[in-house]
Amino acid sequence: MRTEIMPSPTERIALVTGGSRGIGAAIVQRLAADGYTVAFTYVSSHTAADALVDTVRDAGGTAIAYQADGTDEEAFAAVVESVVNRAGGLDVLVNSAGGGTWSELTELPVAEIDSMIAINVRALVLATRAAIPHLREGGRIINIGSVNADYTGFVGGSVYSMTKGAVASFTKALARELVPRGLTVNNVQPGPVHTDANPSDGPAGETLRSRIAVERFGSPVEVAALVSYLTTPEAAFMTGASLNIDGGFSA
Ligand SMILES: NC(=O)c1ccc[n+]([C@@H]2O[C@H](COP(=O)([O-])OP(=O)(O)OC[C@H]3O[C@@H](n4cnc5c(N)ncnc54)[C@H](OP(=O)(O)O)[C@@H]3O)[C@@H](O)[C@H]2O)c1
Repeated sequence: MRTEIMPSPTERIALVTGGSRGIGAAIVQRLAADGYTVAFTYVSSHTAADALVDTVRDAGGTAIAYQADGTDEEAFAAVVESVVNRAGGLDVLVNSAGGGTWSELTELPVAEIDSMIAINVRALVLATRAAIPHLREGGRIINIGSVNADYTGFVGGSVYSMTKGAVASFTKALARELVPRGLTVNNVQPGPVHTDANPSDGPAGETLRSRIAVERFGSPVEVAALVSYLTTPEAAFMTGASLNIDGGFSA
């Protein structure tokens, strides 16, 4: 039984923030394999962005890279305009750009606090705000939060965890607002995932692994698979949810 009629434009298009590396890059590849044209943003890793565009093209898909800092709302608005001009609308927004510094609060420079709030919260809110008017019926917003919204586990995560808690609250409250538009919004909360930002063989790797029930880091591909599910018609009953994908880190 179909639970929802998805739009069938000639081109289904997804926009992924922070898509040149890590979890975002895996999402770009997965959504491209699912049949979306995938636009993605990044800040400075031109080589990785170009390589990703080539990889997607070689696999038969289409990815478009935009150098646009998510904390610059005008730059992001220009990306949305370009994407919408191309496809006549938008089908999926994935807010993946983000990151953070772990440090005891009294040692955490104010600039780092501001930076985490700017990218993990403010940019995510403004990207969502910019995208909503263009999302077609059946459209999806998927945020990449963190299991640290629910469980920190270590000293030093107060501000990062706060920003991801804000993503969870934002997702939940926004869900009702989007129902009349036929849109859902959900929040994927990874545990430790092997990326440049959190390498499994990095300084925190062994300590983190010892706290993960399945005794390994997750892979970006595993997170991307959950994001892919959230874009399907079958996921239409899920909105406002925060979903942990953490190998039992919080179990
Ligand atoms: N890895 C983990 O263990 C883990 C766990 C839980 C949640 N997360 C969350 O998952 C998301 C991705 O993390 P990751 O580990 O994949 O990070 P990553 O490997 O550091 O990759 C970050 C990506 O985001 C882009 N980016 C960073 N700041 C940006 C900005 N201001 N505007 C636009 N793009 C920006 C980067 O672009 P450049 O290449 O140009 O720098 C890069 O493509 C983050 O929200 C993070 O908090 C990660």
